Amino acid sequence: MPTAASVLNALTPDDIHWIPSSILDAARMVDLFSVEAPVTVDYGCGEGAFVLAMAQKYPGRNFLATERLVGRVEKVCKTAARLGLRNIRVLRLENLYTARFILPAESVAISYVSFPDPWPKRAHQSRRLVQPEFLEAVRATLVDGGELRLKTDDLPYFRWMEKVIAEAKGWERVEWQDDATHPLTNFEARFIAQGLPIHKTILRKV
Ligand SMILES: C[S@@+](CC[C@H](N)C(=O)[O-])C[C@H]1O[C@@H](n2cnc3c(N)ncnc32)[C@H](O)[C@@H]1O
Repeated sequence: MPTAASVLNALTPDDIHWIPSSILDAARMVDLFSVEAPVTVDYGCGEGAFVLAMAQKYPGRNFLATERLVGRVEKVCKTAARLGLRNIRVLRLENLYTARFILPAESVAISYVSFPDPWPKRAHQSRRLVQPEFLEAVRATLVDGGELRLKTDDLPYFRWMEKVIAEAKGWERVEWQDDATHPLTNFEARFIAQGLPIHKTILRKV
């Protein structure tokens, strides 16, 4: 529940919905968040359960969520405002474009890609988010030792990710340690309820 003090300083959904002043230049994190703090990016946040829970759990960190669907962006912004969160912004923009052109170099501590669309048909696989150019773009945004955390329920896509990772330079692979208190994404909660396995890995920038 937001406190009286946090309500007085509360941000509106419009404050939380970040519209960059230019999409041709990299943003500056200091212009984006009210307080300087390590930044976590959630690419394709969907309905935002994960990023909202993380922003509540870690008030000393900043969170940027990207999502292409306007209805989802609006929903996350409204919920964040209702919760009195000041450390989250939501950007309606394509993931690869955001990583490549909007986020400044070496500005992000942790990036999450959770349950990206699997595009199972062979003809559509080029639309998958995890591709060499995406890993390269995300790597450039990360600080040294920063991490990209990947999760999917889709085994063929996970195998695809592993091939892309094997070819990528400048990362070490780290096993994801299970933490029962780690917030779940909307999709993750559904898959866990159905008893489905979740495939996950962490890439650390070296
Ligand atoms: C399968 S959902 C997973 C949502 C969330 N990460 C979760 O785990 O609950 C994938 C989300 O990514 C968004 N998305 C797909 N492609 C995108 C892209 N290229 N740029 C930004 N968002 C994208 C979709 O609109 C959708 O909300």
